[in-house]
Amino acid sequence: MERGGLVDLQPTPARILADVVQGLSATPKRLPSKYFYDARGSALFERITRQPEYYLTATELALLQARMADIAAAIGAGAHVVEYGSGSGRKTELLLGGLDAPVAYTPVEISRSALEHSVARLGALFPEIEMLPVCADFTGPFALPVPARAPARTLLFFPGSTLGNFDGPQSVALLRGMRDAAGADGRALIGLDLDKDPRRLEAAYNDAAGVTAEFTLNLLARLNREIGSDFDLGGFAHRAVYARERMRIETDLVSLRAQTVRVGGRTFAFAPGEAMAVEISQKYTRDSAAALAAQAGLALRAWWTDPQGDFALALLAPA
Ligand code: TRP
Repeated sequence: MERGGLVDLQPTPARILADVVQGLSATPKRLPSKYFYDARGSALFERITRQPEYYLTATELALLQARMADIAAAIGAGAHVVEYGSGSGRKTELLLGGLDAPVAYTPVEISRSALEHSVARLGALFPEIEMLPVCADFTGPFALPVPARAPARTLLFFPGSTLGNFDGPQSVALLRGMRDAAGADGRALIGLDLDKDPRRLEAAYNDAAGVTAEFTLNLLARLNREIGSDFDLGGFAHRAVYARERMRIETDLVSLRAQTVRVGGRTFAFAPGEAMAVEISQKYTRDSAAALAAQAGLALRAWWTDPQGDFALALLAPA
């Protein structure tokens, strides 16, 4: 679907309903985290990235700034930059401004409002870069737009440790899809949050101001509005715990009492204390990242971290 120069493949309510019913039918129950990002969810996520406990965004921004010259040298001139999940575009602004004359920018973003905002802003900042927005779920199939000027290479940009929001097989599939989309001479620049003191990790996903809790509960509000479910927002609580053995934060919505929820003509029963899995945030080491990349036919070309070793930017190329 093409409207106003924007390719629109937003998930339909029928698609969302089917995903939710499937997740609630599983044991343990789960909800798909990609639906966090409606207009309000995207705005709340933006606030999460500015919470003092959520060190990820500030650290990655500083790291990008500090290493931009190295990144630009490794990529060369005339790249087509493709970003999975455009978010607010603060990191993109640094990248597009720091690279040597990129020809085009393709954000692939599920939230139409976030996509429109970032493209309007970046388009005004970089009039010489062709903007080719795609509103789609980047885990699904979609065709990459072809820039008017032939790019020297394709660079996949996947910041924010968003790769960590996918389980092992899904992240390998995503990385393989990036390798295929970028081609033999392509590169991927991936932001990865690194393993560290569990107290700092848990604080990042349980900010004192309660913005993350509001963000996860907003998923239920969105589903109620868009697929007519009847989740009681006061009946569930946000919980995020670091599972050391799996090296990941696991975020759940916990049922505060026995209750039933109606979704699409079906009823789902929750026991008191029953957890519904809503998100994972995998943490990495250099070795675990290299091993994951290898499974997708990619090799580490460069590995940049902040001085504290909190966060990494991995530059990947076909192995
Ligand atoms: N990519 C982010 C992360 O894993 C997404 C995120 C941050 C998130 N806070 C969250 C997802 C809270 C769900 C709940 O850090």
